[in-house]
Amino acid sequence: MVKIAPSILSANFAKLGEEIKDVEEGGADWIHIDVMDGHFVPNITMGPLVVGAVRPVTKLPLDVHLMIENPDQYLEAFAKAGADTISVHVEACRHLHRTIQEIRSLGVNPGVVLNPATPVEWIAPILGDVGLVLLMTVNPGFGGQAFIESVVPKIEKLHRLKKEQGLAFDIEVDGGIHPETAQKCTQAGATVLVAGSNIFKSKNRKKAIQALKYGQ
Ligand code: DX5
Ligand code: ZN
Repeated sequence: MVKIAPSILSANFAKLGEEIKDVEEGGADWIHIDVMDGHFVPNITMGPLVVGAVRPVTKLPLDVHLMIENPDQYLEAFAKAGADTISVHVEACRHLHRTIQEIRSLGVNPGVVLNPATPVEWIAPILGDVGLVLLMTVNPGFGGQAFIESVVPKIEKLHRLKKEQGLAFDIEVDGGIHPETAQKCTQAGATVLVAGSNIFKSKNRKKAIQALKYGQ
């Protein structure tokens, strides 16, 4: 069964704890936390402080998506704050293998992220070392953008490589996910769906989560 990871980027930050409890009760599987630094992406969001504040509020795994330059510098802080998964962009890592090993040595599940224009072939050598591959289905930086259709064949290609090599990493998609795009992604092989606006902007979060999981 596909896992749903609501992105708190679209939540009401003045009552973040309640927002997280609401999606947990609504059937969310992971909580997705978008970290942006104003350099790798043109937006600034949150850091380890928020991860640490959220940790005691929920039992769900915290899925931390780093959209920052120089991620190596902050891995330990995010691990100590309570991240369960830390994903780094391949476009931001000069020594990706070292970064992935470092995340693992901190006791955290390592993930690697690809922008929509970055080919899957870039990460072929690292597939056996990661617990998660996140394929961006929008250009990172903001919630509420439109799904980029050309990522669907990338999901299929990654799913094929995963099967050929007998690997078990999760395939996560992020950006523009609603019931229709969710179905395309799961059919192509996605195992985790990140959704921000579709879940947090809907009045009934449980219904929104169910629609992503089981279809409308
Ligand atoms: C975009 C972030 C996403 C974002 C998705 O840079 O990585 O996680 O919150 O938002 P929606 O689901 O609204 O496209
Ligand atoms: Zn994200």
